[in-house]
Amino acid sequence: MTEFSVVRGDLVGIDADALIVNLFEGVIEPAGGAGAVDQALNRAIGKELAAGRVFHGKLGDTCVFPTYGALKTPYVVMVGLGKQAQFNGAAIRRAAAAAIRACQKLRARSVATILHGAGAGGFDAGRAARLLAEGTLMGAYQFLRYKTPQRGDLPRVEIERVAIVERDAAKIAEIEAGLGVGAITGRAVRRARDWVSDSANAITPDAMRQLAEGLSGVSCQVLSRADLEKSGMGAFLSVAKGSDAPPYLVHLSITPPASVKSTKTVALVGKGITFDSGGLSLKPPAGQELMKMDMAGAAAVLASMGALGELAQAGLPLNCRVDGFLPLCENMPGPGASKPGDIVRAMSGKTIEINNTDAEGRLILADAITYAQKTVSPDEIIDLATLTGACITALGEAAAGIMGSNQPLIDALRASGEAAGEKLWQLPLYEEYEEALKSDVADLINAGSKGKAGTACAAMFLKHFIEGDRAWAHLDIAGPAWTSADRPETPKGASGFGVRTLLYYLYGWQS
Ligand code: BES
Ligand code: ZN
Ligand code: ZN
Repeated sequence: MTEFSVVRGDLVGIDADALIVNLFEGVIEPAGGAGAVDQALNRAIGKELAAGRVFHGKLGDTCVFPTYGALKTPYVVMVGLGKQAQFNGAAIRRAAAAAIRACQKLRARSVATILHGAGAGGFDAGRAARLLAEGTLMGAYQFLRYKTPQRGDLPRVEIERVAIVERDAAKIAEIEAGLGVGAITGRAVRRARDWVSDSANAITPDAMRQLAEGLSGVSCQVLSRADLEKSGMGAFLSVAKGSDAPPYLVHLSITPPASVKSTKTVALVGKGITFDSGGLSLKPPAGQELMKMDMAGAAAVLASMGALGELAQAGLPLNCRVDGFLPLCENMPGPGASKPGDIVRAMSGKTIEINNTDAEGRLILADAITYAQKTVSPDEIIDLATLTGACITALGEAAAGIMGSNQPLIDALRASGEAAGEKLWQLPLYEEYEEALKSDVADLINAGSKGKAGTACAAMFLKHFIEGDRAWAHLDIAGPAWTSADRPETPKGASGFGVRTLLYYLYGWQS
């Protein structure tokens, strides 16, 4: 596990396996800390920059300079910060992520780094440290759980220590605090990635229940099949019954300490289909293996709740109550599976005709949302779900779709997403889409839209389960939950999308 610390001193003279310095795009005279390092290297960096060969300081580009004994560290890693005029929090994250990946290639165990953004970048030190820790942990992420090292492989090396080098003693406490918060955030993102990356035979509903029960500082209540039956959750159960795996509805809760006045209750609901085969409306084989990621919404909520517990224990309690609800089950075509045409009654009392068993997410969410309202009467409901392939068609992997009943909540979440480096693009919920939810035999049909505004129709379905004018936002994360492009802070695969937006929103962090 990577540990962060602050070391008081100068960059020159630091002892580590690699030293990270930075530079804005187009600069050819390293200044400040990087300048001193350049002097110590007999101007090797300045000469390379002046030659204008491979490194120009573009954001996230890196260049390695061996020190040949001129410094205690064997390597200096120069990372580009991009154009100074465009510098922002996302650039700090990206630079940190790119630099740590370069250090990984150098097989470094200990790394020392300059605090990106805190100098000419104009960021205050605490904020820069928070972003650096986030970016470092996100960039260093690898999913190696099942990779047996092969004979002839170099032994695996993990980055154990990252030390921020700071000359100004007055800033050390602020940097340490920022690192603490950023590390909790970054670790939460990594945990969500681990769960989403892991296979469906490992991350079963039962395994996720156990993970939830293991969170510290968070209370956890579990409803099993018999409880779901007692509560009348016919929609949720209709999905679960195609599989032998027992379903669970996990309810996590964290309340502010007595000394903090609670302003509101927020319910987070995450779709937790640990494998989506489609059920009897079976998905085609190509790409089915990816449906292990259909619990990415639940993973984001679980990881966020874990982080809230850790932040509270670190002395940073929230001023609101947060409840997390995870409906967990498999969608399988077993002997008990729902058949197309089946009609079920949801906990709210509404009846649903299931014309497509692959539109299962909205069924489990409908009951989880009803249960959330009945148990905690939240002021706000935010659900996250890998709900529709249509959302990938609309927005690709770049952004999640956001829809809901309350514009201020949507705007606030979009702003938090922006600060967190996660894009949320709003889609409209036009009344015309209601047509697609009409059934001849029941109150609602689960998949009526057929190629037309599938993402919004799914959201409209959920809206039928929001009581009155309660503030509700729905995040369809089907696209960004899993990425095929390799970005420094988001290596390809599970992204942990949603964790940062939720934490930034709840804590009100600006980038
Ligand atoms: N889990 C899928 C959506 C999905 C697809 C997530 C690809 C991530 C990547 C969801 O349960 C589903 O199958 N939705 C159907 C709905 C349709 C039957 C109305 C879809 O998108 O095709
Ligand atoms: Zn499905
Ligand atoms: Zn699904």
